[in-house]
Order: sequence, then structure tokens, then C-alpha cells
Amino acid sequence: MKISDSIVYIGVFDRDLDLFEGQYQVPGVSYNSYIILDEKTAVMDTVDGRKTGEWLANAEAVLNGKAPDYLVISHLEPDHSGSIQAIADKYPEMKLVMTAKAQAMLPQFTDAALAARVQAVKENDTLTLGAHTLKFMTAPMVHWPEVMLSYEISEKALFSADAFGTFGNPEDGLWLPEARRYYFNIVGKYGAPVQTLLKKAAALDIAVIRPLHGPALNENLGFYLDKYKVWSSYAPEEAGVLVAFGSLHGNTGKAARLAAEMIGKRGVKVTVVDLARDDMSFALAEAFKYDRLLLACSTYDGNFFPKMEDFLLHLKAKAFQKRKAALIENGSWAPMAAKGMKAYLEQMKDISICENTVTIKSTLKEENEGQIAALVDELLA
Ligand SMILES: Cc1cc2nc3c(=O)[nH]c(=O)nc-3n(C[C@H](O)[C@H](O)[C@H](O)COP(=O)(O)O)c2cc1C
Ligand SMILES: [Fe+2]
Ligand SMILES: [Fe+2]
Repeated sequence: MKISDSIVYIGVFDRDLDLFEGQYQVPGVSYNSYIILDEKTAVMDTVDGRKTGEWLANAEAVLNGKAPDYLVISHLEPDHSGSIQAIADKYPEMKLVMTAKAQAMLPQFTDAALAARVQAVKENDTLTLGAHTLKFMTAPMVHWPEVMLSYEISEKALFSADAFGTFGNPEDGLWLPEARRYYFNIVGKYGAPVQTLLKKAAALDIAVIRPLHGPALNENLGFYLDKYKVWSSYAPEEAGVLVAFGSLHGNTGKAARLAAEMIGKRGVKVTVVDLARDDMSFALAEAFKYDRLLLACSTYDGNFFPKMEDFLLHLKAKAFQKRKAALIENGSWAPMAAKGMKAYLEQMKDISICENTVTIKSTLKEENEGQIAALVDELLA
């Protein structure tokens, strides 16, 4: 993938990574990296250690015998720092450009000796390569504290670190569903720092955004910036309901699907997730997408189905807020699931819980159907 005559893509696509950050299923993920060719040559970030060989070969082909002058490091998480040591060993004269915070963290990821080669930069510092000039912008907590973005002035290119990233192959150009899933699971907790970053970005004339994962974005940038504005404010993106259920023997699942059918018949968008079978990251992203949530869960050992508890823990950790919720519980002798779920929802900001709660005793009876209809009414009111 050639980006411009002088900014050349050398990233790699990792198609067989089983779990990103040790927990999220992905259709592969790219680790993006570029070389800026000018009087001085800069490599923009490295890649996960799983792909060091392929990436170094890409770099060599572009460098054509030259040694790079700089390695610009925007983020030290292993998916980007995993090949720093290898390229630094290969090109011993190359300087490493990063924030002071990154400099302090660098020895956690490389040999201590690399610290001597760091050129630390701060907000608004520039690095002139020739016709190209990089201007640096710190972005603490988008996604780690040491993060910085680089804006290349002549081509109006924003190297945006993990921001605006997405799972999947950069070649396929698909962005929204995987970018949403990526945002809420990876960056989601840090809404306020993302808002700060968006304010800085608003002052720039941007022609292309180059995130560390997924496709470069070079048209209709307002669309992407608007999505980030909404997501980072924790506001729902659209009206609709995520129905999430945890069911031991299937009856609670049946109730959840019935509720979803009723919601769909009312012309409201609805997604159903089975928390034992669907990947947590999809459930989380759908919860954030919609303005309403319906939770249906079996009672389990005086508490509630652990997959549901895990889901609520994830929602809480990602600062889920500003939503309306409804509860369905099931139990054979002492139903407790609604109480347990409510206790979690009450720890989140600005969640309004429907007055109605449906309690099913083991199997779905006719009377439950009317109760579910009433609950749906209240949820959609
Ligand atoms: C391991 C286990 C623990 C359970 N603990 C409780 C309990 O503490 N209280 C209760 O009322 N029902 C309990 N149940 C019964 C389930 O809550 C009941 O079977 C379930 O809610 C039915 O819905 P489902 O078919 O969707 O799983 C338990 C069931 C299992 C398998
Ligand atoms: Fe990251
Ligand atoms: Fe990343």
C-alpha cells in the first residue's frame, strides 16, 4: 500500500491472532507503520513482536540500503513497541523520538541501553526531515499515559496512535462496526482524554488520519470525528435496545428473544447477545451503541449467572452511563438475579432502571408473556 511518494506504508496484517489484548476475538488486526522518506528518514512506530521479521523486511525494501535517522514512537504498548529493540539493533545510529513519559517507560520494553538514544519531545515540538516536518501532540491516556500523536505539516497527515483505529484488514476499508468495537473495548474508559485530543485535532487542517490499526482515513473526515465525539461523551449513538442474556437451561434465553421480537415489532432496532456464546467485546459495543439495555438472567447459587456478572463488570470498567435499562430474572426457588444485576447498574452513572421487573420461575408461562410486554412498553416509553 503506497500512501504518497514520500510516506510509505510498511505495516503488517496479523491475520491469525486469536485474541487481541488477551480477550477480544478479532478478524485479524493490522499494526500500522510508515516510513517518511526525505533528506532525513523517519520510521513511524514499530509492530508487534509476532511480526518483527515481516515488518523489518518491508522497511528494508523501502529504505533501499539507507539507514533511518529517526524512529518516532507514539505508544509503547507491545502491539507497537514489540519490534523497537530489533530495529534499534539493526540501525545503531538511529535516534528514538518519544515523549519524556515514554522515555521513562522504555526500559520496561527494551534493553536499558536504548535510553541513551532517546530524543524526548514535548507538546508542539517539531522535527524537520526536509520538506516534511512532524509536529508532536501529547495525548495522555489515549490509550496509555505516554502516548503522542504526530502531525506531518506538508501532507496534513495526522498519525493518530490508537485513536481512530479498528480491527480487521486495512485493505478492506470497512470501518464503523469494528471501529466501534475497538473504541469501546480498547479506549472506551478514557472519554475525557479523547475529548481533549479532539479539541487539539479541531485546530489542525487534516487531509488524512493514519491510526495504528486499520485503514487510513482520507475522506469524509467529519464522519469519523463526529463518531469519536459521540463515543467519547458516552452518549448513545442511536435509538435501540441491546438484549443481553445469560441462561443456564435456555428458558431465560427464550424470554430474552421474545422481548427482542416484541421490540422489533415496535419498529425499534434491537440486537440480541447470548453472553455465554457471543464475544464480550461485541456485547459491550452494542450496549454503547444503543440508548437502552434489557438484561435477562438466571439465578445461580444465590447470585446470578457469572457471564452476566462479567458483562456488567466490563460495562462498569468502561464507564457505561446515560442509558435506560430493564431486567428479567429467572430462578427455581429463590430468584436473585434482578437484585444482583440492579446492584451493578446502580454503581454506574445515570442509569434509569424500569420499575417493572419480570420474574420467571424456571419456564416461561403465559402470564410471563404479558409481563414481558409490559416491561417492553416501559422500556420503550
Ligand atoms: C448451578 C445452579 C445453581 C442455581 N442456583 C439457584 C439459586 O440459587 N436460586 C434459584 O432460585 N435458582 C437457582 N438455580 C435454578 C436456575 O436459576 C433456573 O434453573 C434457571 O433460572 C432457569 O432458567 P434458564 O433455563 O434460563 O437457566 C440454579 C441452577 C443451577 C444449574
Ligand atoms: Fe494501545
Ligand atoms: Fe494498539
